Amino acid sequence: MTDTPAPAPAAEFWEARYRDTGRVWSGRPNELLVQEAAELAPGTALDLGCGEGADAVWLASRGWRVTGADISATALERAAGHAAEAGVGDRVAWERHELGPSFPEGSFDLVSAHYLQSPVALDQQTVLRAAARAVAPGGTLLVVMHAGWPSWQTEPPFDAVFPTLDGVLAELALPAGEWSVETRRTARRPSVSPDGVEGFREDHVWRLRRA
Ligand SMILES: C[S@@+](CC[C@H](N)C(=O)[O-])C[C@H]1O[C@@H](n2cnc3c(N)ncnc32)[C@H](O)[C@@H]1O
Repeated sequence: MTDTPAPAPAAEFWEARYRDTGRVWSGRPNELLVQEAAELAPGTALDLGCGEGADAVWLASRGWRVTGADISATALERAAGHAAEAGVGDRVAWERHELGPSFPEGSFDLVSAHYLQSPVALDQQTVLRAAARAVAPGGTLLVVMHAGWPSWQTEPPFDAVFPTLDGVLAELALPAGEWSVETRRTARRPSVSPDGVEGFREDHVWRLRRA
């Protein structure tokens, strides 16, 4: 694991989020990753904001060589443990970065970012553009973001600006003629509040192919 120093407060916020609780996420790969990446031929993959590593482990178990990057050392330690348990520890490298000021080296057949959204500082435009630059020729950029709060969330816990389908494409500012948009859609899935209220949540999905 390489270690890129990250300044406060984003690093402190996310490190505390993981350190102060047990497992934060489900351990299952994101459904939209499974839907969008299952048919891709395995190669090299970069998972940005990989958290506890479920997506990276799923990709590695399907034959990808994966680099998982996150700002939280605790998340990355958990991710490495999950990869070892799944028998794919040798197929995933974990790197700590504050994405924006820092970014993993190299180019990848798949660059994936699922819910790389944060209530604290995160330069989304810089990260998205660096993500696109890191896609190898013929490779795929897959971005998934929450489109809004869950339907049951009557009082949002903090102010958030959610992306739009066209807004993210505009932020990416991809060179004309070099990319094709294979997926640009909004997906709705069931969501249940911590106290059992049933509802739904919508996510935006972009899958782009570099020529
Ligand atoms: C909402 S979680 C999503 C985690 C994972 N991708 C998933 O879908 O389960 C956002 C993740 O992004 C990471 N993160 C937030 N800001 C970051 C930054 N500037 N650089 C790197 N990671 C960041 C957090 O530590 C967290 O693991």
